[in-house]
Parts: sequence; structure tokens; C-alpha cells
Amino acid sequence: MIKRKSKREIELMQEAGKLLANVHKELRSFIKPGVTTMEIENFVEKYLAERGATGEQKGYQGYEFTTCASINDEICHGFPRDEKLQEGDIVTIDMVVNLNGALADSAWTHTVGEVSDEAQRLMDVTKTSLYKGIEQAKPGNRIGDIGHAIQSYAEGEGYAVVRDFTGHGIGESIHEDPYIPHFGAPGKGARLKEGMVITIEPMLNVGQWGSRMDENNWTARTIDGSLSAQYEHTVAITKDGPVILTEQED
Ligand code: MF3
Ligand code: CO
Repeated sequence: MIKRKSKREIELMQEAGKLLANVHKELRSFIKPGVTTMEIENFVEKYLAERGATGEQKGYQGYEFTTCASINDEICHGFPRDEKLQEGDIVTIDMVVNLNGALADSAWTHTVGEVSDEAQRLMDVTKTSLYKGIEQAKPGNRIGDIGHAIQSYAEGEGYAVVRDFTGHGIGESIHEDPYIPHFGAPGKGARLKEGMVITIEPMLNVGQWGSRMDENNWTARTIDGSLSAQYEHTVAITKDGPVILTEQED
């Protein structure tokens, strides 16, 4: 069942989203060579606690952390760990913030020092593909319009779109209907309606789209060891079009 949110509910989610956006802004300078993803985890937990918020991922289906930290060929759901990040790494930090019971979800790929042109270009195309998907998130369009916009652009730039993980509705819990694939055909799938709040979170790989699961049963990485990047926003569908609830507004 697809739930639609009231204006008030969306306002509360926007407050959570603003806080989450500020976390990613802080992380831009916090993340550098020598920092560990466990230090990022602890920084985020403290930042949220000081502002009366909590991390919704911790305890979700047995996941033990506030953040996911996915390095280089890890696609998503990497565990925070004590290994130091190195110059040239890319790391995707994903989290769900709960502020006053309202949720917002956003992942962002951060650079560690100077990165290769290959990594930078992957990141640029992935971020642009997210915004191309968001443009389609308006009443009257269908779910397939979002996926098609992302896939046609990303593949045209020479990247592969991960198919094993999708965007999703979000509300009282992290994952709600509908599921939003980042590939698909225009005009197909459920119709988008005012009041729906969804995430769009394309993961693009330099090589093949396939993934394999680590032994921890959470972390997915590319089958060919190629780099993977991800950008995710929580988006409200309104009569005036998409409203990004987790925008970082530089
Ligand atoms: N934020 C993730 C998403 O975009 C949720 C990861 S599942 C968790 O869907 F268990 F790690 F929380
Ligand atoms: Co999500």
C-alpha cells in the first residue's frame, strides 16, 4: 500500500532532512586520509544526539550502526570499521535520521583527499543521474519515468546501473511502498501522486552492474572490483513538482 503524507508530515520530514543535509556538509571536511569509517560513525552519532535526533538504521533488521560506509568497490551497506581511509578512496556514507519521529534518508559519496579522474567522473555522472531522476518525480508521471531517466543518462555516459537495490517510499519506517528501481521503461509502473515521499538513490558502477554479497550478509560489492558511487535524496511529490527534503544547498 502506498501511503501519502499530509503537509504537516512532510514539513517534519523536511526538518529531519535539513539536519541530515548538514551532517553530509560537515562530513566534507571531516573525511580525509587517515580517518576511519568508525570515527565517521561516532562523529555522526554525536552530531545527531546533540541535536535531539537518532539514527534510524541502528537496529533496523539487525543492522548495528547509524551509518553505512561503503568504500571504493563496495556498492552499499558497508560496515563502519577501524581501517584508515586512504588518499584517493571514495566512500559513500548513508544514513536515516529520525527527528521527532519523522525520517529522512540520504547517501552521499565523499572523496578522500585527491581522487582519480575516473572516480571523479563516476561521482559526477552518478550525482547528475540522481537529479535527472528527481526531475521526473511529479504527479501524473510513473515510477518507470524515474528509472528510465537515470538509466538512459547513466548508460549513455558508459556506466552500469545497479539493479539489486532500489529507492523506496519512506514514512513511519525506512522502507515503504513503492519501490523505485533506477532503471526501467517510461510510462510504466505505478502513477506518482501528490503526498508521496520516496527516496531516489542510484548506484552506478564503472564496470558491470552485478553485485555480490560479503560474508557479513549485508555489504554488496561490484562483481568485477570496479568502483561504485551513490547519491540519494528523500523527495516529496507535491502539486508543484518534486521537493528535495535532504538538499545540501551548498
Ligand atoms: N539508507 C538505506 C537505504 O537507502 C537503508 C539501509 S538498510 C540499513 O535504503 F539496515 F542499513 F539501515
Ligand atoms: Co534509501
